[in-house]
Amino acid sequence: MDMVLDPQEESALKQIETELADWGNERSRLIPILQMIQERMDFLPPRAIEVVAQHLGISASEVFGVATFYNQFRFTPPGKNPVKVCLGTACHVRGADIILENFERKLEIKEGETTTDREFSIDRVACVGCCALAPVALIGEIVHGKMAPSKVEGLIMRCQIEKEMAERASRKKETGE
Ligand code: FES
Repeated sequence: MDMVLDPQEESALKQIETELADWGNERSRLIPILQMIQERMDFLPPRAIEVVAQHLGISASEVFGVATFYNQFRFTPPGKNPVKVCLGTACHVRGADIILENFERKLEIKEGETTTDREFSIDRVACVGCCALAPVALIGEIVHGKMAPSKVEGLIMRCQIEKEMAERASRKKETGE
């Protein structure tokens, strides 16, 4: 699958390409290199996988195979509003999987994916440490406790309204009000 990188990601990838020589090309360098890329780009785009494969002289499918083995790596860019649904035990027994399904249905993506406008992504996470509020979902850094399926749409809408307000404010600033 081809993925369009934004200008910032393009330049980060170019920079990474020029620096790869310093990382050595032994196969044992694969994981540290992938970690470095993920840290700088927030995900591993297909082109980065190819760049790494070429650098280490192995196939892209081998790089991808190793990367998918570890759940620390993601292959889609995180959304501007990353939704994380806790599936730890306390949340699970209080119906967290239904909350997750609701986010998936409303945003029309599956967990691990990002909406095409890159506004939202969905991931499941392990216990986030506030089990008393179970079930819990996070949007960005904000914890939403005692989640219910009926709250999902409102939270998504709130993000969309905040985005519109920020855009309006920046337009006003540009035009000098
Ligand atoms: S299990 Fe979800 S916060 Fe602990």
